[in-house]
Amino acid sequence: MFGRSKELCALEEFPGHAVVIGSSGAIGSAFVKALLERNDTISLHAVARTDVAADATHAVHHKADFRDEALLQAVAEQIAADGPVDMVLIATGLLHDELVRPEKALRDISAEALERLYFANTIIPALALKHFGPLLRREGRAVFAALSARVGSIGDNRLGGWYGYRASKAALNMIIRTASIELARRNPQSVVVGLHPGTVDSKLSKPFQAAVKPGGLFSADHAAGRLLDVIEGLTPEDTGRCFAWDGRRIPA
Ligand SMILES: NC(=O)c1ccc[n+]([C@@H]2O[C@H](COP(=O)([O-])OP(=O)(O)OC[C@H]3O[C@@H](n4cnc5c(N)ncnc54)[C@H](OP(=O)(O)O)[C@@H]3O)[C@@H](O)[C@H]2O)c1
Repeated sequence: MFGRSKELCALEEFPGHAVVIGSSGAIGSAFVKALLERNDTISLHAVARTDVAADATHAVHHKADFRDEALLQAVAEQIAADGPVDMVLIATGLLHDELVRPEKALRDISAEALERLYFANTIIPALALKHFGPLLRREGRAVFAALSARVGSIGDNRLGGWYGYRASKAALNMIIRTASIELARRNPQSVVVGLHPGTVDSKLSKPFQAAVKPGGLFSADHAAGRLLDVIEGLTPEDTGRCFAWDGRRIPA
C-alpha cells in the first residue's frame, strides 16, 4: 500500500503504525499532523465521531459512534488488517458543552453533566482500551497514551471546583493504571500512560483562557509535538503513570 512492508517500516521508525482517537479535536488533529510530518511512511488511522474532511495525506479516517461497540469493533478489525499497532493516542475529552458547566460548588452538581463528563473522559478511553488495546504489538515497544489532565490528580488538588471533570479524569487515571498491569502481562515492553498537554488553545479551553498567564497558552501543534517527545522518552518502568508536556510525572 505504501511501497514498503509494514513490518520493515515498524523496525525503521516508531511508530510505523498508529491510531489517533478523537482526531477531530484541536490536539487530536495536531497529533495526526505531527505523526505524518515525523514519518511519511506511517500507516495512520484517525477515528472521530464526526466526518473529518478528506485531506491530501494517506491517513485513513474512520467515523465511529463511541456508543456503538459493534462499530468500534469493526473499525478495530479494519485497523488490524494493517498489522500490529505501535501506538494508540486518545485525544477525546470534555470540559463543557451546551449542558455541562464546570461546577464551582456542590450545589452545581448535576447527574446529567456527570454522565456526559464520564462518558467523554473515562468511558471512551476505557472502550478504546478494550477494542484497540489488543491491536498493540505483543513484542517490542507499544504505547497507549490518553490525554488526561493535571486537575485529575487527587494529590495535586488544592483549588477545588470542577467536580465532574476532575473526577472523570481521576477515574481515567485508574483505568490507565489497571490496564497497564494487564497489558504488561501480554507485552512487558508496553507503556500505558496518561498525558497532560498543558493549557492548549482549543474549544475546550476557550472560556477559561482569560485566566492563563502570558505565554502559558500552547498552540495545539506545540502541545502535540511536546507530548510526542515525552512519549519517545518513556520506558516500560513508566507504565501506568501520568506525565505532563514537560516530561514531569504528575502524582496520582
Ligand atoms: N485544551 C486544554 O487546555 C487541555 C488541558 C488539559 C487536558 N486536556 C485534554 O486534552 C484532550 C483534548 O482536548 P482539546 O483541547 O483538543 O479539546 P477539543 O478540541 O474540544 O477536542 C475534544 C475531542 O473530543 C471529542 N469528543 C468530546 N466529547 C465526545 C463524545 N461524547 N464522543 C465522542 N467524541 C467526543 C471531540 O469530538 P467533536 O470534534 O466531534 O466534538 C474532539 O475530537 C481532552 O481529553 C482534554 O481533557 C486539554
